[in-house]
Amino acid sequence: MNILILPGDGVGKEVTDQSVKIIEEISSIYSIDIDISFAEFGGTAYDSSGDPYPKSTKEAVNKCDAILLGAVGGHKYENLEKSKTPEYALLSLRKENDLYINLRPIISFDEILDSSTLKRDYINDLNLIIVRELVEGLYFGEPRGFNKDKTEAFNTMRYSKERIKKILKFAYNLSEVRAKKLCSVDKANVLECSKLWREIANNYAKDFPSIKSENMYVDNAAMQLVLNPKQFDVIVTENLFGDILSDLASVLTGSIGMLPSASINDSGFGLYEPIHGSAPDIAGKDIVNPIATILSAAMMFHYSFKREDIYNLIVECIRDTLKDGYRTRDIMSNGMTEVSTSEMGNMVLEKIKDKNLG
Ligand code: IPM
Ligand code: MN
Repeated sequence: MNILILPGDGVGKEVTDQSVKIIEEISSIYSIDIDISFAEFGGTAYDSSGDPYPKSTKEAVNKCDAILLGAVGGHKYENLEKSKTPEYALLSLRKENDLYINLRPIISFDEILDSSTLKRDYINDLNLIIVRELVEGLYFGEPRGFNKDKTEAFNTMRYSKERIKKILKFAYNLSEVRAKKLCSVDKANVLECSKLWREIANNYAKDFPSIKSENMYVDNAAMQLVLNPKQFDVIVTENLFGDILSDLASVLTGSIGMLPSASINDSGFGLYEPIHGSAPDIAGKDIVNPIATILSAAMMFHYSFKREDIYNLIVECIRDTLKDGYRTRDIMSNGMTEVSTSEMGNMVLEKIKDKNLG
């Protein structure tokens, strides 16, 4: 297994460093032959080569089985021309590899529910997953741009029937092995893309009679997610809606620092990254929460390497670490022990070693 690490920008390196330690330990415990390599990506790549997604990184991407990414972006890069921005590099990476299935599980850890702004009863035992379409929609639709004198700007939301079918099919299959409850989110009262989406969703609803299917407008879905999040199990939606709803949903778990993601294609190739960004304000301080990235590495074992057992082991070790009272600053509460990024990584690592010995 060839794993490519793209630390990226801001807090990226701090969080991927913790995951690398854990991947190495797993490799030795399970005698899995894992080869880890590194490449530059995003703003840091732009700084050293003038290109946020240099050719050498593309070559490394083509050779690996899965990618673990820290984060990209920073204030410094905000005014570059589009093709030089870290975000553009990330979108190209997703598009070029057809990583259209973006999975964002919202799993609450009981131990840290008090860091959420929502009341405990609404979020304990929460376990839902957002399936976000990742390579079409407003993010990629053409035409896009500014008119000549920049008095107007335009983007195009565009969806192919094939793509909608594929993402909905994935979500339905996922729903079958989960709680058999699926909510398809759209804005079919206004947008043609959503009308097409809903038509296809309704066909799947007929094909999967054992699944409790519903359609919901995205504005209502945003409200329902804070009003009564436990009504959801699988939420499937288009690119931009999924982007927004997943940040919103992260609050349900206590901190965005806890949320991993997987972006995969039909052949199981995947890009794994925390959903928090590069957080330039706290970069370099050893205070960022590494759990989202550790969970992302866990998702890599699950989806790219078909080792759900390892995924479960890592989740359990994170749970145990939280049970022992260790917290990074974002999830710190009264009576707990505040630890740094690297200390948190080490705690989880120790739990993994203990499990193996036990
Ligand atoms: C995300 C991020 C990205 C997105 C940005 C960095 C391009 O917000 O992964 O959610 O909008 O998809
Ligand atoms: Mn986002």
